[in-house]
Amino acid sequence: MKVAVTGKGGVGKTTIAGALAYILHKRGFKVLAVDADPNANLAYTLGLRADEAERITPISENWDLIEEKTGVRPDSYGMLFRLNFTVDDIVRRYAVKTPCGVDLLVMGVVREALGGCMCPANYLIRMLLRHLIIRRREAVILDMEAGTEHLARGTAKHVGAMIVVAEPSIKAIETVRRIRNLASQMGIEKILLVGNKVLNEKDEYLIRGFSERNRIPILGIVHYDPAIREADLSGHSPILYCPSSRAMREIEAINDRLIKIIKD
Ligand SMILES: Nc1ncnc2c1ncn2[C@@H]1O[C@H](COP(=O)(O)OP(=O)(O)OP(=O)(O)O)[C@@H](O)[C@H]1O
Ligand SMILES: [Mg+2]
Repeated sequence: MKVAVTGKGGVGKTTIAGALAYILHKRGFKVLAVDADPNANLAYTLGLRADEAERITPISENWDLIEEKTGVRPDSYGMLFRLNFTVDDIVRRYAVKTPCGVDLLVMGVVREALGGCMCPANYLIRMLLRHLIIRRREAVILDMEAGTEHLARGTAKHVGAMIVVAEPSIKAIETVRRIRNLASQMGIEKILLVGNKVLNEKDEYLIRGFSERNRIPILGIVHYDPAIREADLSGHSPILYCPSSRAMREIEAINDRLIKIIKD
């Protein structure tokens, strides 16, 4: 089970990715959460303290690892690098255990080199995501960068499903349509919508109507939940601060539907 969580900026991707990872862990899955957002903050959602989160070296900044695998340091521009290497040891060596039981791997900033060539860091990350071996009862949840740019870089190319999060706003919904179009061009078959920060029936109607008109199956609606906001403002992980709040219960229901859809 390899799932990417995408959507416009600020819609709740990290909150939902973190909560899904936690819920899967509670259901007995071995879960790897991957922070694929250059502006990484999934660590906080999973309950790490700021000092612990800051100590994590993102894979893209781990020059020794990049050199070990590709034979080239990221600053040696233009050099040919190795394309064949194994990646299965990287999770074991670099994933960090978080207080909510999920392992976390932080990818860092992945940019294409000038001229459209692939840089060794980008290649390493793509290989890593592509060849992560997932056994039975294992899950990988990717928290993606906001918007559509990552789709061009192909970081989420090999996922089994893509969740697109939207809040009730025309701009957020438009972004869903763009992500869906690009993701289906890339061959991702299961593209699923989650409505988040829904305040009332009118909000829900907007999101459900969009889902129907555009034939993007909806996994569920998560209401705007003051407990999530409170956790955020007081610097706590929403997962550990309010595990049975309304939003968290709604994400549990979403998780159950997701498992069912992926199985089918
Ligand atoms: N259901 C909800 N109810 C209330 N607040 C929420 C809810 N979901 C998310 N939030 C709040 O919205 C803000 C943005 O959430 P989050 O960081 O998860 O979004 P994001 O899509 O990952 O943002 P970015 O694009 O910056 O990565 C946070 O302050 C979070 O606490
Ligand atoms: Mg985020």
